[in-house]
Amino acid sequence: MVSSDHLGPQEEGIIKATVDTRRKRGRIVKTIQVKSNDPERPLVVLKLTANVKDPFHNAAHEADAIFRTPCRSCHVDRGVGRSGAALFRADCMMCHRRGRVGKDLLQLKKLSFEQLRRSIEDGVQGTVMPGFSARLGGPLTESQIRSLIRYIKGH
Ligand code: HEC
Ligand code: HEC
Repeated sequence: MVSSDHLGPQEEGIIKATVDTRRKRGRIVKTIQVKSNDPERPLVVLKLTANVKDPFHNAAHEADAIFRTPCRSCHVDRGVGRSGAALFRADCMMCHRRGRVGKDLLQLKKLSFEQLRRSIEDGVQGTVMPGFSARLGGPLTESQIRSLIRYIKGH
């Protein structure tokens, strides 16, 4: 929001900006482009940096804590009603990609259909991988789990 859309030479204005930090962690950078008819600087780029504190990942939890409030807003809710690639991106990718705690897609693909099904349904003991099956109180239906396996194997 700009305080005025017209500024004379040397005049000052205020730009109000809000950064949505939901689902963000750590250092984030946002830029604002200010365009005007200033002959010398028609475009000015303002940079906002912030360090979003993470209140969620400092303590140890049961693996299935991610299915409940407040964790589910990032770990479950975006996957509701989805399947296949979209579901993987919403619920799995945050842990299963290079540099994260879980194997990436290429490594997962090497597992058998049965190994995939068992780990996704039941979880993996002693890790932060919970059982996602609705049968065990998880958020995913059988058909969603099948769609994930098809996606991983077909990748
Ligand atoms: C604001 C979104 C958000 C919320 C809320 C959230 N997580 Fe996460 N979580 C992530 C992301 C993104 C990752 C992937 C790792 C990363 O990007 O640092 C992750 C990764 C994890 C991991 C894997 C270990 C790791 O550090 O990579 C665990 C375990 C986890 N979260 C548990 C929880 C628990 C328990 C809660 C609730 C107390 C929770 N998360 C709430 C976004 C969130
Ligand atoms: C909070 C982090 C986290 C989330 C979310 C998560 N996983 Fe995992 N997963 C792990 C960890 C850690 C392991 C154990 C290390 C490994 O084998 O990759 C694991 C193991 C697995 C395994 C077994 C790998 C093996 O070698 O036997 C499969 C399959 C798997 N996850 C699939 C998924 C799918 C599909 C999703 C989404 C529905 C998912 N995971 C969500 C962390 C996570």
